[in-house]
Amino acid sequence: PQSPWCRFDPYDSPEDQDKEYVGFATLPNQVHRKTVKKGFTFTLMVAGESGLGKSTLIKSLFLTDLYKDRKVASAQERIDQTVDIVRHTVGIEEKGIKLRLTIIDTPGFGDAVDNTKCWQHLEDYIDQQFEQYFRDESGLNRRNIQDNRVHCCLYFISPFSHGLRPLDVECMKALHEKVNIVPVLAKADCLTPAEVCRKKQKIKQEIKQFGINIYQFPECDSDEEEDFKRQDQILKNSIPFAVIGSNVQVESKGRKVRGRSYPWGVVEAVEDPVHSDFLLLRNMLVRTHMQDLKDVTQETHYENYRAECIHKMTQMVVQDKKRSLLEKHQDGSEVDFPLPLATTDERERLIYEKDEELRKMQEVLERIQEQMQHTQRGGC
Ligand code: GTP
Repeated sequence: PQSPWCRFDPYDSPEDQDKEYVGFATLPNQVHRKTVKKGFTFTLMVAGESGLGKSTLIKSLFLTDLYKDRKVASAQERIDQTVDIVRHTVGIEEKGIKLRLTIIDTPGFGDAVDNTKCWQHLEDYIDQQFEQYFRDESGLNRRNIQDNRVHCCLYFISPFSHGLRPLDVECMKALHEKVNIVPVLAKADCLTPAEVCRKKQKIKQEIKQFGINIYQFPECDSDEEEDFKRQDQILKNSIPFAVIGSNVQVESKGRKVRGRSYPWGVVEAVEDPVHSDFLLLRNMLVRTHMQDLKDVTQETHYENYRAECIHKMTQMVVQDKKRSLLEKHQDGSEVDFPLPLATTDERERLIYEKDEELRKMQEVLERIQEQMQHTQRGGC
């Protein structure tokens, strides 16, 4: 007999009349509704030598003015040199979808006489974000953690060098285990199409030769449409993306476009795919690979950081425990105590405090291990 609850079925679509239809096909819709409500976050960093157009490019990438407050000299599009790590966060909304976008503009390096470890501040910044996330995740309130981890780093390569400079190699190698590196060939308007092609080949070959792990686009599924596969191949072949930055609108073929005006003509920085890979890069970042960049950050870079942290903490706890046991059981020779001439009561108190401290650390570790097991089992 039919259950009386069937009469109260709130759904009345043709599928619901189908007896074989349980309804879990709506799961993607449920996930979609929930994530849309929550909104999305994405953090992008730009890095590379000084004066390669980092600040200029990020202004055009998301069609949002990140430098409203910076002085722009009236006749030219010049923006001030970046001297410190600057974080811009903007809320963008498109068709009801909210994106909290954070751009990390970094000071260009390579200007100083001694450039040893001049990328250290970038490495530290990325680590600090991981550390903050790790703390928040291990804390009591894990519901509303703000994710400030860097999901992608656009690494700018000079158009004037023959391939990668030693500084580029060292910097990318220092960062490649911590962040998804996407290399870009800066100021491509300074090169002819043949030069762009040659430089791209050289850079790709050197990236391989020096063992630099740049962001790898995921493989296409075999059942994907041919058109999609073709687009995907174009994207993969375009690495490093040749880009042109501009902050001004110029007149080209009767239209106002973002570009650079020269005595011999206008270079369209954004809209013309023949002039630059700007559209490819933006589509990759926003339309096709944003989620994958976030997944790789979570599943590879952050997990590596986390595993290293847990390993260090475990080592610390074990060493502390050993020391504490030694102190407790060495008959009369507790020379390591901060108060060597302490009375028995004071020693007892110190031992008690140490034990409490260890117990708390042990609890934190157990919680973290539980979370790790939960994540490995496929939890969120
Ligand atoms: P730092 O702040 O020193 O790190 O420099 P940056 O990499 O942020 O460069 P920025 O955007 O400040 O640009 C430096 C100069 O290059 C400016 O005068 C820009 O107008 C110019 N510029 C930016 N992008 C391009 C480009 O694609 N082609 C050419 N020819 N010039 C560009």
